[in-house]
Amino acid sequence: MWHAVISYFKFLFSSTNQHGVHSPFVYHLVTQCFYDQTVYKDYSKLISYREQLLQNDQVISITDLGPGSKTQPSNQRQVSTIAKTSGTPLKRSKLLYRLAQYFRPQNVLELGTSLGISTQAIALGNPDTQITSIEGCPKLSAFAKESLQNHKHITLLTGDFNSHLPDLNHQVFDFIFFDGNHTKSATLGYFETLLPTAHNDTVFIFDDIYWSKGMTEAWEAIKKHPQVTVTIDTYFWGFVFFRTEQAKEHFKIRV
Ligand SMILES: C[S@@+](CC[C@H](N)C(=O)[O-])C[C@H]1O[C@@H](n2cnc3c(N)ncnc32)[C@H](O)[C@@H]1O
Repeated sequence: MWHAVISYFKFLFSSTNQHGVHSPFVYHLVTQCFYDQTVYKDYSKLISYREQLLQNDQVISITDLGPGSKTQPSNQRQVSTIAKTSGTPLKRSKLLYRLAQYFRPQNVLELGTSLGISTQAIALGNPDTQITSIEGCPKLSAFAKESLQNHKHITLLTGDFNSHLPDLNHQVFDFIFFDGNHTKSATLGYFETLLPTAHNDTVFIFDDIYWSKGMTEAWEAIKKHPQVTVTIDTYFWGFVFFRTEQAKEHFKIRV
C-alpha cells in the first residue's frame, strides 16, 4: 500500500505530458491515442457492460492462482465486487479501446480475463483482432465466455497461464496485456516466456507496475532487458516496445 502511494508521488514529480517528448513515435502515440478526447460511440457498450456487472449480485466461488486480492479475503465474491475491485476501470477500458484502434493488432494475448472487461474493450477497438485470453478461475472464465459470446474473434482459455503458454509461445503476438498474477517472479517468467512471440512492432502492456515492491522490481528488470528499447510508464501500466530503429529510452507520461 505504502509502496504504491510513495511511488505515485514520485511518479507525479518525474512524469510529463507530450511536451519534451522528442521521439515522434511516442509523441504521436501520446497525442493521438493517450490524449484522444473523442467520445467514441462504442464507449456506450463499455459503459453498459460495466453497469450490468456492477448491478449483478450473483456470487462466484473464486479460484485464485495469483497472489490474491489485497482487500477481499473471502473466495465467495459477488460479480459486482469483482468488477469494482479487480476489473479494469472505465477510464483504462477506454484507453485499451483506443490502443486497439490505434495499433490495429492482428493477434492479441491477454493474461487475466476475469469478467472480460478489458477483453471486450480490445475487441471493440479493433473488431478484426484475434484475441486469446487466459483465466485461471473456471467460474470467471465461464462467466466471461457467456458474456462475450457475440464477439467472434475471442478465444477464452481456462487454466493456469503456465499450462497454456507452452502452446502459445511459438505464435506471433502484436499486443500482449499482462493483467494477472502480479508477483515479481511470475511477471518476469511470463515476460521471458513470451519474448519470442514479439516482433519489431509488438507492444507489451504490464498492469499494476507499482502494486508492490516486487512488481516495480520486475518492471525495472524488464526496462533493462537488451531487447527492450522504448518503455512508457503511465504509473498504472508499463508499455514496452522492441523497435530496433529507436534508441533505448524510458518515458514517464501522465495519462
Ligand atoms: C486483475 S484480474 C484481470 C482483470 C481483467 N483483465 C479485467 O479487465 O477485468 C486478474 C485475473 O488473473 C487471474 N489469474 C491470476 N493468476 C493467474 C494464473 N497464474 N493463471 C491464470 N489466471 C490467473 C485471476 O483469476 C484474475 O481473474
